Amino acid sequence: MAAHPGKEIIDMGVGEPDEMAFPEVVEKLCAEARKPENRGYADNGDMVLKEAAARYLERVCGVRGINPETEVIHSIGSKAALSILPAALINPGDCVLMTIPGYPVFGTHAKYYGGLVHNLPLTEENHFLPDLDSVPKDVLGKTKVLVLNYPNNPTGASATLEFFEKAVAFARRNNIVIIHDAAYAALVFEGKPLSFLAVPGAKEVGIELHSASKSFNMTGWRCGFVAGNERLVKAYGDLKDNTDSGQFLAIQHAAAHGLDHPEITEKIAAKYSRRMSALVQVLAQAGFNARKPKGSFFLYVNAPQAAVTGAGTKVEFANAEAVSQWLITEKLISSVPWDDAGAYLRFSVTFVAKNEADEARILGEIQQRVNDVKFLF
Ligand SMILES: Cc1ncc(COP(=O)(O)O)c(C=O)c1O
Repeated sequence: MAAHPGKEIIDMGVGEPDEMAFPEVVEKLCAEARKPENRGYADNGDMVLKEAAARYLERVCGVRGINPETEVIHSIGSKAALSILPAALINPGDCVLMTIPGYPVFGTHAKYYGGLVHNLPLTEENHFLPDLDSVPKDVLGKTKVLVLNYPNNPTGASATLEFFEKAVAFARRNNIVIIHDAAYAALVFEGKPLSFLAVPGAKEVGIELHSASKSFNMTGWRCGFVAGNERLVKAYGDLKDNTDSGQFLAIQHAAAHGLDHPEITEKIAAKYSRRMSALVQVLAQAGFNARKPKGSFFLYVNAPQAAVTGAGTKVEFANAEAVSQWLITEKLISSVPWDDAGAYLRFSVTFVAKNEADEARILGEIQQRVNDVKFLF
């Protein structure tokens, strides 16, 4: 900013919604915050969010038969749940299968307990689904947990029913727990959200983490839920009870209101879908291999190896991080680089825009800024 005073930085690196929670959810929070019965420690929560979560799983994801009393407990966001769960599952020497690139929180905490992390790369050839058959036998013998996340951050990839079925069979065969982080679950551009719990047998091996953060523009509110296997939910609850004192009931009740109004998420997803189509076009025109994902708000594209500028200067890039640095310093476009499994850039369609016209202006601005650059791949 100091080098380019007055010039706008286009921030495509953001990992959270650009808008506020919907007014009706804010109203619900205000009404619930005024109730004296909601004022105290919430501990593991009352039945309001639990019941709404079970209804949501059935209505939105087609998952029947979740018992709200024993198979759901709220979380202070998925991150909090991912940081609490390793205490229940990881002893020194136990292994966790994590996907890279990915959201590392469970693995980080597993290491605090003396656990080991085995990384499964997400590659284009595998449609950004981990190759479960690639896990070496000695690792498999020590493996306690497989962590999955679809729609995926950062690749934007969605899972398939077949993949989830394979994962359930893998977990059963090897006595492994599956934790499916569904933080972006309902943000889909076509069809219905796919829940891991919709797969027969999933509840025997795992749990799913849902969050109001992205689905309802409520990142700062800190509310989600853990659902699925009763023993795992109970273990999470026992630990949670000894870790936090629960999210403010008024926030839980407002989140429950959201869960009962999935049309809110549909509106949010429609906005991201519109922006995604436009961004794909802009990046494709610039030479990137950009394809619209089926959900999330992330567009993951392969990073160029070099750029030739309008003046004919060639800049070589050692990795995605170098590309990202170049884009922000030369073009004032912020992105997130990933070099874990190939060199890729992540663009988020949660950039701040006042309205649709402003949205189009910002995307046009990106196009203009890279217009005179030839990217080499
Ligand atoms: C894959 C993934 N899981 C979990 C989270 C955390 O979500 P929450 O706000 O529910 O803690 C994020 C946030 O960026 C994420 O990308």
